[in-house]
Amino acid sequence: MSYSINLTVNDRSCKVTLDDPRVTLLDLLRERLQLSGTKKGCDRGQCGACTVLVDNRRINSCLTLAVTLDGASITTIEGLAREGELHPVQEAFLAHDGLQCGYCTPGQIMSAVGLIAEGQAGDDRERIREGMSGNLCRCSAYVGITEAVCDATRRMNAATDTERKSA
Ligand code: FES
Ligand code: FES
Repeated sequence: MSYSINLTVNDRSCKVTLDDPRVTLLDLLRERLQLSGTKKGCDRGQCGACTVLVDNRRINSCLTLAVTLDGASITTIEGLAREGELHPVQEAFLAHDGLQCGYCTPGQIMSAVGLIAEGQAGDDRERIREGMSGNLCRCSAYVGITEAVCDATRRMNAATDTERKSA
C-alpha cells in the first residue's frame, strides 16, 4: 500500500508518494528530495542535527513520520536565504564563529530561527542556552553559537521595530 501526501517544502509545493509509512521526514528530505543540508546525527531524537521547521515550529525530523505531515509547510536550511542574501541567523553564525566542523550547524541554525520566532529567550544568554539545549555540538562551539543567536535576535528585533515605525 502506498500513501500520497502534499507538502510545501521551502515555499515549493510537492506531492510525495510513500511506499512505507515508517519513512521519517529526515530520510524523505535527504534521500528523496535531495535536501541533504539537514543532517542525520543520532537518528533518535538526541542531538538536534536534524532540526527543521514544520509550520514554523522546530522539530526533530528524525522523530517525525513523513506520512503524518500531509498539508504541512516545511522549511529546511536550504530555504532560509532569500535572493542570494543569507538569513540574519546564518550571518550571525559566521560573524561569531558559531561553528567548527559544521555538522551540527544546519540544525543549530534552524533551531535558533525557531527559538527567535517563539520569542521566549530574547537576548538572555542563559535562556538561549536553555532554549538551544536540544542541539548538541561535538566541537563545543557553544560560546559562538550563543553569541550568534543573541546577536541575530537583536538584529531581527531591531529590523522589525524599524518596519513597524515606517508602516
Ligand atoms: Fe535527529 Fe539526532 S538526528 S535528533
Ligand atoms: Fe562540529 Fe558542532 S560545529 S559538531
